[in-house]
Amino acid sequence: MRGFAGKVAVVTGAGSGIGQALAIELGRSGASLAISDVDTEGLAQTEEQLKAIGAPVKADRLDVTEREAFLLYADAVKEHFGKVNQIYNNAGIAFTGDIEVSQFKDIERVMDVDFWGVVNGTKAFLPHLIASGDGHVVNVSSVFGLFSVPGQAAYNSAKFAVRGFTEALRQEMHLAGHPVKVTTVHPGGIKTAIARNATAAEGLDPEQLAKLFDKKLAMTSPQKAARIILDAVQKNRARVLVGPDAKILDIMVRLTGSGYQRIVRSSMGKMIPR
Ligand SMILES: NC(=O)c1ccc[n+]([C@@H]2O[C@H](COP(=O)([O-])OP(=O)(O)OC[C@H]3O[C@@H](n4cnc5c(N)ncnc54)[C@H](O)[C@@H]3O)[C@@H](O)[C@H]2O)c1
Repeated sequence: MRGFAGKVAVVTGAGSGIGQALAIELGRSGASLAISDVDTEGLAQTEEQLKAIGAPVKADRLDVTEREAFLLYADAVKEHFGKVNQIYNNAGIAFTGDIEVSQFKDIERVMDVDFWGVVNGTKAFLPHLIASGDGHVVNVSSVFGLFSVPGQAAYNSAKFAVRGFTEALRQEMHLAGHPVKVTTVHPGGIKTAIARNATAAEGLDPEQLAKLFDKKLAMTSPQKAARIILDAVQKNRARVLVGPDAKILDIMVRLTGSGYQRIVRSSMGKMIPR
């Protein structure tokens, strides 16, 4: 992939799945990488692979919910590489549970990582991206940022919020005349560890949910997802739908408006045990 040579790219949640694939594809395309994760083992594997490719890499343990640490990290990355061109706010977690039986802390935790993590990363790096003269913010939402699903209210809330935040940012950068492009990413089911790393409300079996996700919903490889995302970044797309399922579901929502809720509750709604 051309267009990434000489760029400095930051990827959060780079120890697994989409983040790991993004980092490796960026490294292969000539970018220097600042990778981070809370999973230091997974992160070390990504670092090894980047070193084997010959990509310059800085690897750090970073929890995206820790705002002060994120701000210091952004300065450290700039100091290390001399500039920062792109941030992929990718780190995320999943949680399944109806609102009635979910604890406040479960909903807050998902918002903290999946929404506030994205806000922290965007705000921490924005001054450096503007200063680079050629910046790009890539925020990972989900198809669940396009429509809601029973049992996914916490995740839906965070991913809708990422979409709203990122779409406003793109317009603001344009109006301010800043040299920063902005892309929102909406993956469908990607074959990663997300469901195996997920938690669930009391009474639900996370293992059973993970099996359901792995067997019925995950269809696109993280490598393919990374290539689709990077192609959209090169083309400065406002929105990228990742995978055939994402494209079909997007059309369904556009065609039916709020009527999609009837379709979703009688298909996906019944799939999830409750
Ligand atoms: N897999 C899918 O089907 C799918 C679909 C839509 C959106 N997404 C989104 O894609 C992104 C990547 O997910 P994935 O599927 O690769 O999952 P994954 O579980 O394989 O990878 C997510 C990574 O984020 C890290 N992480 C979790 N909490 C963190 C924190 N507080 N600080 C820093 N790192 C943290 C994890 O340790 C993990 O390495 C997420 O934002 C997810 O919501 C995934």
